[in-house]
Amino acid sequence: MRNEPTNKEIYLNNLFQIDDPVLNKIENKLKEDGRWGINIGAHEVSLLNYLIKSANIKNILEVGTLYAYSTYGMAMSLPAGGKITSLEKDQSTHEIASSLIKGSDLEEKITLVNCDAKEFLQNHKQSYDLIFIDANKSGYMDYLELSLGLLNPGGTIIGDNTFLFGHVYGEGESNMSPKNIEIMKEFNKKLINNKDYLVTMIPSREGMTIIKKMN
Ligand SMILES: C[S@@+](CC[C@H](N)C(=O)[O-])C[C@H]1O[C@@H](n2cnc3c(N)ncnc32)[C@H](O)[C@@H]1O
Repeated sequence: MRNEPTNKEIYLNNLFQIDDPVLNKIENKLKEDGRWGINIGAHEVSLLNYLIKSANIKNILEVGTLYAYSTYGMAMSLPAGGKITSLEKDQSTHEIASSLIKGSDLEEKITLVNCDAKEFLQNHKQSYDLIFIDANKSGYMDYLELSLGLLNPGGTIIGDNTFLFGHVYGEGESNMSPKNIEIMKEFNKKLINNKDYLVTMIPSREGMTIIKKMN
């Protein structure tokens, strides 16, 4: 599904590379299991951390943990007392992520939950400053609609992979269900003309859609 990275993307990931023992351990495990690249890259971590620090974000919910590369990357920017909760449906993936985070300096900031994200969002009442959506593409509209009700005033939702490997602008090469393409197009445009939200997209490697609740 993913194309080889361009020189620009390699440059950006090298520029923002973080040499951290826990992130390095997660990277090694992702590579060992043939899953490296499903996670966000160092450039995307820098974009998220720029937002977390500049907007003074304290509470984050992540939809889609994998091995917690993004989870740990975001936790590095949280202030004292800040928390990130990350949701992962697959039990063995959740267990690997938990073992990679266990004993790390940031463990107390991180809660990993083995659950279906939609069920969690439907049944959960706590609100967040940032909700980062990075799971199954078929669920993006459900996650967006449910996340809107869990966002603090001034809070932000970020969807990753919102170019859907080029399919939203007609250049996707892999097989992709037309339904998922429609879901992602709808996700990207849903709130653009709504005065209660501020929306943009960052043309990162896979596309990031940023939605800020104004009040
Ligand atoms: C793209 S990966 C997440 C990558 C991670 N955020 C990172 O950058 O390091 C998506 C993850 O979402 C999980 N997932 C898929 N469907 C889910 C669901 N319904 N609820 C929770 N997690 C789900 C997958 O098992 C997979 O591990």
